[in-house]
Amino acid sequence: MTTRRTIAPEELGTLDLADPRLHAESDLSAVWHHLREHQPVHWNPATDTAPGFWVVTRHADVTSVYRDSARFTSEGGNVLETLLAGGDSGAGRMLATTDGEKHAGLRRLLMSAFSPRALEPIVESVRRTVTRLLRDALEKGTCDFAADVAAGVPLGAICDLLGVPDRDRAHVLSLTSSALGSHDADSTPVDAWIARNEILLYFAGLARDRRHSGHADVIALLAGSEVNGLPLDDDEIMLNCYSLILGGDETARLSMAGAALALVEHPGQWRSLKRGEAGIATAVEEILRWTTPALHAGRTATTDTEVGGRPIAAGEIVTVWNASANRDERIFDAPGELRLDRTPNKHVTFAYGPHFCLGAHLARAEIGAVLAGLRDLVAEMEQTGPAKPVYSNFLSGIGTLPLALKPA
Ligand code: HEM
Repeated sequence: MTTRRTIAPEELGTLDLADPRLHAESDLSAVWHHLREHQPVHWNPATDTAPGFWVVTRHADVTSVYRDSARFTSEGGNVLETLLAGGDSGAGRMLATTDGEKHAGLRRLLMSAFSPRALEPIVESVRRTVTRLLRDALEKGTCDFAADVAAGVPLGAICDLLGVPDRDRAHVLSLTSSALGSHDADSTPVDAWIARNEILLYFAGLARDRRHSGHADVIALLAGSEVNGLPLDDDEIMLNCYSLILGGDETARLSMAGAALALVEHPGQWRSLKRGEAGIATAVEEILRWTTPALHAGRTATTDTEVGGRPIAAGEIVTVWNASANRDERIFDAPGELRLDRTPNKHVTFAYGPHFCLGAHLARAEIGAVLAGLRDLVAEMEQTGPAKPVYSNFLSGIGTLPLALKPA
């Protein structure tokens, strides 16, 4: 079981929603509920070191901000960390922090590598990896599901996409976890900054090697193509590789580890999955809603405007909270219940609109492979120690999950 302190809505005035510890160590569901009901567009005040920002909590308002990249740009950063620090070095060059025509052109290019058809061989390899990792865990009888199973899946798939050599993969994995989420409450922004720079340097080297290499991976695709008539430079290639690895590794790991924890904590749902009463495709969507690995996304208002009737000034930071929208009772019946057969399921776990997650098909395939693997290979799961949260105001979930597994 995870033990988290429940925060009461009365404490709202003392909370800083940018504080990673708050998200890691507490249960904010009562606060989100209160905000959706009474202050759906809330102002999180400035601190000594960071500016204030808007907190948008209702599903309808969240999707309206996501939809409108002209009024709410990602070019000032798309997560609190960069927005509060005053900008993103990838602005106008990296897919997630670029808008307008450049974004559309870059996205069209990358989409060709992320279509279900193009991903078929990678999805096949994901299924084989999941089966191998689950069999290893079953043989040992116990595992840390987050480290031994979930962590072994997404980075391998992204590295396959990017053509990262096997020998470098463990190094890249340790850098990504320091750069974004942290499994350590004492990790500092400087540690994250150093890790991020190391990843960028690593990809710069790979991009140089691949420019005229004739390889068929995403790095070679970026290096050999034009966006709106212009070739991408080394910086743009490196930033977009970085964005794939940071966007697609830890998020997917957290959803897979969160899936195992959800099944352990909801034995009735585990039985319904085992009996085939809940199909894999619908169960994947509910796991995505339930785990919501990306807590928020951020934007900057480009003009004086409003959200949910609240005036927003040009230049202000607007954050939309998937964690709250995915529990909005206006959209979901009994949002606090895990229902693996839930349909429809209009979660915003992958965002919405022009920046909708590029890796959604891959992430769904990864979670689906884990659910199918657990259903088919595992008879019983039992938690044998505490699950440990990641410390981040952007990523949510567990980085450690000790389990005992019995084979089917
Ligand atoms: C965008 C979540 C998996 C690559 C996004 C966004 C969210 C998200 C919320 C929108 C960000 C914004 O609007 O500012 C997730 C979650 C995942 C996941 C929860 C796993 C469960 C992946 C994977 C990849 C990936 C596997 C690639 C290998 C991207 C990219 C974007 C993106 C490149 C930027 C798209 C754009 O700006 O047009 N993701 N993601 N993601 N994601 Fe994912």
